Amino acid sequence: MHHDATKCEERSDTMASGRRKVTVVGAGMVGGTAAQILAQKDYADVVLVDIVEGLPQGKSLDLMQAGPLFGYDTKLTGANSYDETADSDVVVITSGIARKPGMSRDDLLKTNMGIVRSVTEQIVSVSPNAVIIVVSNPLDAMCHVAFDAAGFPRERVIGMAGVLDSARFRTFIAMELDVSVQDVSAFVLGGHGDTMVPLSRYSTVAGIPITELLPADRVKALEERTANGGAEIIGMLKTGSAYHAPGTSVVEMIDAILLDKNRVLPCSIYLKGEYGIEDTFVGVPIKLGADGVEQILTLNLTDAESAALKKSASAVQDLIAAMERIKSEA
Ligand SMILES: NC(=O)c1ccc[n+]([C@@H]2O[C@H](COP(=O)([O-])OP(=O)(O)OC[C@H]3O[C@@H](n4cnc5c(N)ncnc54)[C@H](O)[C@@H]3O)[C@@H](O)[C@H]2O)c1
Repeated sequence: MHHDATKCEERSDTMASGRRKVTVVGAGMVGGTAAQILAQKDYADVVLVDIVEGLPQGKSLDLMQAGPLFGYDTKLTGANSYDETADSDVVVITSGIARKPGMSRDDLLKTNMGIVRSVTEQIVSVSPNAVIIVVSNPLDAMCHVAFDAAGFPRERVIGMAGVLDSARFRTFIAMELDVSVQDVSAFVLGGHGDTMVPLSRYSTVAGIPITELLPADRVKALEERTANGGAEIIGMLKTGSAYHAPGTSVVEMIDAILLDKNRVLPCSIYLKGEYGIEDTFVGVPIKLGADGVEQILTLNLTDAESAALKKSASAVQDLIAAMERIKSEA
């Protein structure tokens, strides 16, 4: 009896908060930063999950203690298992390991495939209606793993890359022209890697395409710096990779979903023939709202842009083939 009463109290406590629920798997740099920014938004409770004992609990408590200073009432919970994550509206997957010295790309792929698969299976068993945002690298390949393991409709498994890559492009455009980032809008399509496709024709300052504001060689230089954006930061940090802009990019996507904003954002989604690409996760512009992918926007690309997008998709397909090979060897 006593046990039941406690359960009942716990349940009414959850209901009383009446907030949406976001789970962030991986309480590392990106996961922790996403939790922090989301907490400051003050509209959803956050469950942080990690395999390292104490890490998600410690970060959650620390973030709770920042609440009085920021003025947020976000409830954050840390966990090493999935019970606490039940009925999440959005689940972000940032778990994985970074490539260590001497580790081959295949070894990294194998390890992260295993992590993302097992995490996804555990998530969907308790949150069957969630929208999953994949962040772990190699991004587009990990989207495939999560999509396959979840068995969700493609509208609810979405990769974060384009939002970050576009934010980087916007930053470089604003720096180059000495204008407010608020007036810069940019689009980066394709896979998350050096084959990404910055679409300068559709990147504007207050509606003016940057191709009209900058000479072609400067545009190209900004595109290249964007494609190399992650590596540039790794080179400076030496240990670890970027997390402020990645964590903030995740929250931009969560905002779009939980506030049903129908934001138009480049995200990695499972293409079924759109842009002439079959059965591959690749970044394209979508309308992102309460149900996840609300619409896929198809742009009229030039031959060169279309070829670049297909080349980027084929790099993702190479990784899918490598994962198949790894699976068959196991
Ligand atoms: N998509 C993007 O644009 C983008 C941007 C930045 C980083 N990333 C990727 O995001 C991932 C996280 O980056 P980070 O800097 O936060 O790394 P990190 O090492 O700081 O954090 C990863 C966390 O995952 C945890 N983890 C490992 N296995 C787990 C498991 N089975 N279950 C739960 N947690 C587990 C680790 O303990 C660690 O705390 C990396 O794969 C990174 O390459 C992607």
